[in-house]
Amino acid sequence: QTYAAILPAAGIGSRMQAAVPKQYLPLAGKTVIEHSLSKLLQHPAISQVVVVLAENDRWFRQLEVAKHPKISLALGGAERCDSVLSGLHAIKKADWVLVHDAARPCLAHSDIELLIKHIEQHHQGVILGAQVRDTMKRSDANGNILNTVDRDGLWHALTPQAFPVQQLRHALQSALMQGVNITDEASAIEFSGEACSILPGRSDNLKVTRPEDMAMAERFLTQSLS
Ligand code: CTP
Ligand code: MG
Repeated sequence: QTYAAILPAAGIGSRMQAAVPKQYLPLAGKTVIEHSLSKLLQHPAISQVVVVLAENDRWFRQLEVAKHPKISLALGGAERCDSVLSGLHAIKKADWVLVHDAARPCLAHSDIELLIKHIEQHHQGVILGAQVRDTMKRSDANGNILNTVDRDGLWHALTPQAFPVQQLRHALQSALMQGVNITDEASAIEFSGEACSILPGRSDNLKVTRPEDMAMAERFLTQSLS
């Protein structure tokens, strides 16, 4: 099997409230995106990494890593799923694609291995997840509790998310055409009726979303180096 990766990095990071999109914030001696990219670039099975950038991006090309021979660029869209679809069109030759958020800088080599091993054995889509730990509540719009949701089988969806290239392209295209709300790749695959598994990934694979997440990511990255 052959593998490519897509790194959607065309978001503006509005919840981070920083002067630059969050993927370009400094983190443990590099930028967030350089961390997210490095494990994908280093993996010997991944032959191409498509970085999806906003039209007005003026930061990526300034990074040393931009010249890496495995990297291709694609133009992002209005929503994350539009950016991923654009990235899919830039894949040259691969059976499988791993989609990984630029905003997840703490990705470990072992989590990529977990996905690739699962693909080699089961030949179907697979994503990383984290099992829900807290008691889950459903409320109305005023915060009045309606009920407790059974936590059994509930997961947080993480990235990377890995699928056959053509399967993901068709699933995203038809979901977008039918106006389905697609927040990750697996939701498009679910909508198309294809099978997909979820595997427990590392708990330090957080997405930097709000300002306070940066300190935690910094701690995870410096710990894993020591
Ligand atoms: N992303 C993208 N194209 C979009 C929107 C998001 O490529 N139109 C990317 C982001 O750059 C990020 C990943 O998708 O790496 C996850 O999205 P999210 O965490 O929501 O990032 P932002 O949309 O940038 O942040 P926010 O929602 O706070 O504005
Ligand atoms: Mg967003």
